[in-house]
Amino acid sequence: METKTQKKYNITVYVRRFDPDKDAAPRQQQYTIQIEKGLTVLDALNLIKQTQDPTVGFRFSCRMGVCGSCGMLINGKPGLACNTQVLDVTESALTLAPLPNFSIIRDLVADLVPMFGVLTGVQPYIQRSDVEEMENPTREYFQTPHQLEEFLQFTYCIKCGSCMAACPTMATDKEYLGPMPLTQAYRYNTDSRDDAADARREIVSSCHAIFNCHYAAECSNVCPKGVDPARAIQLMKKDLVLRYFGLRKKKCAHVHEGPSQSDYKPKIEAPPFTVDQ
Ligand code: SF4
Ligand code: FES
Repeated sequence: METKTQKKYNITVYVRRFDPDKDAAPRQQQYTIQIEKGLTVLDALNLIKQTQDPTVGFRFSCRMGVCGSCGMLINGKPGLACNTQVLDVTESALTLAPLPNFSIIRDLVADLVPMFGVLTGVQPYIQRSDVEEMENPTREYFQTPHQLEEFLQFTYCIKCGSCMAACPTMATDKEYLGPMPLTQAYRYNTDSRDDAADARREIVSSCHAIFNCHYAAECSNVCPKGVDPARAIQLMKKDLVLRYFGLRKKKCAHVHEGPSQSDYKPKIEAPPFTVDQ
């Protein structure tokens, strides 16, 4: 049977190259590749590396939009190389550069380490006042679907840095904490199991934090996981203002704690086999 051949596209790929050990400044290198429908930007880069230039530097791991390591500027917009179809962006010219607002390790590889340093600073983990219970838990901490919904969207962040690269405040204020760490501060502040929100509020209300965000919302526009950091930052502003005027209702103590271990019903035994094994 005759197979239908896929249409081929000749794409010119402009890759920003920079080796800090050799180059005084970044330069542009041009490659031409032939692609078909279905090829991602990461596939295009691997094609260049395998067939034309093994020295091109870029980072990837999962190839499925989960690890967050392949973030780069794709035709001027931050995004994931593994999650972006070339033909969704262009049928002729593709321009690739490292994420802005980060220093460059090499070629398309941005240095995300400072971002993770800031993330650590906002204490992105659950902390409880009942330390003994946290160390030696006797029960589960249940949440209602509504309590889960309050922060669920913000847990989808894969720390790719695209929002940080798109943020105009990051571009002008090098000390700004940035949309990703601020969103994670909100994610944990909103978790009904956490007791460290006051400490995080101190951090996010300081200079170079949420009140420096002027809601360009570019972070939400580029986020490949639909996290909506701009929304998290505005909700944090609202929370702080309501608290300042004493209009915030006190959080209920952990009313949704589950039954203690001793209250659990005994395990149901599996029924015996009814056929010979
Ligand atoms: S909020 Fe979105 S764009 Fe920002 S680091 Fe997380 S996944 Fe990436
Ligand atoms: S390679 Fe993991 S998100 Fe792209």
